[in-house]
Order: sequence, then C-alpha cells, then structure tokens
Amino acid sequence: MSTTSTISKKSAVSDPEQVSETMPKRKKMTVPAFTAAKGGRPLVCLTAYTAHVAHIVDEQADMILVGDSLGMVIHGMPNTLGVTMEHMIMHGQAVMRGAEKALVVVDMPFGSFEESPEVAFRNAARLIKETGCTAVKLEGGREMAPTIRHLTNRGIPVMAHVGLMPQQMNTAGGFKAVREKDQFDEVIKDAQAVEEAGAFSVVVEGVAVRLANKITKSVGIPTIGIGASVECDGQILVFEDMIGLFPRVPTFVKRYGNMEEMMRDAVERYSSEVRERKFPSDDYTYKMKAD
Ligand code: KIV
Repeated sequence: MSTTSTISKKSAVSDPEQVSETMPKRKKMTVPAFTAAKGGRPLVCLTAYTAHVAHIVDEQADMILVGDSLGMVIHGMPNTLGVTMEHMIMHGQAVMRGAEKALVVVDMPFGSFEESPEVAFRNAARLIKETGCTAVKLEGGREMAPTIRHLTNRGIPVMAHVGLMPQQMNTAGGFKAVREKDQFDEVIKDAQAVEEAGAFSVVVEGVAVRLANKITKSVGIPTIGIGASVECDGQILVFEDMIGLFPRVPTFVKRYGNMEEMMRDAVERYSSEVRERKFPSDDYTYKMKAD
C-alpha cells in the first residue's frame, strides 16, 4: 500500500475553507438524531467493509452498515449463512478506523442472536466492545421483538430488518421479495412489533412499493429501504453492488460505476507492461543516494 493512501480521519475536514465551500458542516450522527430524521430529508446509507471505503462513504452517508453481505461480496460465500462473529468484528474494526461522522451499525450474523435474548446480548455487546460501533442490526420481526427489547433495555441500540430476510433463505426457499397482497399485514405487524420493542430504525428489504408505503406510514421510526422503493425514509445499497464490483446484480440495484471494468483494465495494462519490461520505468525506481 502506498504511503499516500494511508487513511487520515482528519484529511477530509482539515481545511476549514474547503468545508464551508464544498459541503455542509456535519455533526457525528447519533442514534436519537437518526430516529428524529423520520419523515425529513431522506437518509443516505451504504455498506462498507474496509477502512478506506468507509472513509469515502463517510463523506456522504448518515449511516454505514457493516452488513453480513460481506460474506458474499468480500469472502465469496454463496449466501450470508456462513458469516461468523469473527468476520463481523474484523470488518467492523476496519470500518471504525475509516468512519468519522456516520453512524456505524454492525450486523449480527446468523446464529449469533436467535437462540435467546441472553446469547444475543452477549454477542451484541461483543460487537460493540470489540469494534467501537454504535449499534447492531438483526434480522427478524415479531419473533425477535423480545430480543430487541432485551438489548435496547440494556444499552444496545438495535436496527431491525424485515421483509426479505436473507438469513431465512432456507425456510423461504430462496431470496423472495414480498409482493403478494395477502403477505402485507404480516410484514406491517413485524415492523410495528420491532418499533414497539425499541428498535431505532428498520431496514425494509425486497417489498412491493405499496407495502413500503404502508410500512413507512405505520411506524414512527425511519424505514431504510433496499429494493423497497422511494416510499422509505432512507435508502441503503451494498457498496460493491452500487459501484459495479459484484457480478450478480439484483433487480433493485442501480450501478453508479463500473469498477470491475476499471480494475480489469488496470490489471491488463499492468500485466502487459510487466511482460514488455516497461514497468517499472525510471519514474518508479530508487536512484542511488549521492555519496
Ligand atoms: O448485509 C447487508 O448488507 C444488509 C443490507 C442488504 C441491508 O443487511
């Protein structure tokens, strides 16, 4: 890694003139401020798994999620079920080194919270202690309400996740969006139950536009949509999907860049230059120190 790319948390705000001209002054996002944003300007959320990406995303995002999607987009797993606490802690620590203003939330991986509220507390506390993140996210609706209540009563802010829940892919028979009218009430009840249990916000994944609208109107906490339309209070995408670095693109992902193409091009040009002995040219070599 070159020394010029070393992350400085201060670099983005070290020049006061640059701050006032190019971006509004931002305070560190807190859990109460995030909840209070319900119904106001849309909340910008993205995932990040590394320090440098977190540093870039932090310049714009209200919330950075260290999602268990890292199993798929970073570690090449077929789904999120194999992700461990150790994965989440390692990537959570990296993200915390790069993030300054955004609220950082770390996902609870499959198997770390379902068994009992006590097990969930132990693992959630570990994520917070060992990464320094502010909150955790867990998948589940009414069935997880007692666990959410247990955590929030003990000082752990929880972001919930309803609708399409990737950790339940085996019981659901795949990643299934919620599009049938007779499924709507169940998801609305889930969203209301997690709010009632104390969740400060809820991710709504893979639901029809009309359902997203109903959920957003039925709860007093911000709904953060992924594949859930503009009817949510905010949006989240997986960073690698958004920049075009992951080959499988779900319907709801808009690619804002094509990093895969850029990376392939860079690897090709580097390889040709090495083969032709053009790299490293004089500019990239050490000269002898004068005696
Ligand atoms: O793991 C993840 O990235 C997520 C988002 C898709 C919300 O849960």
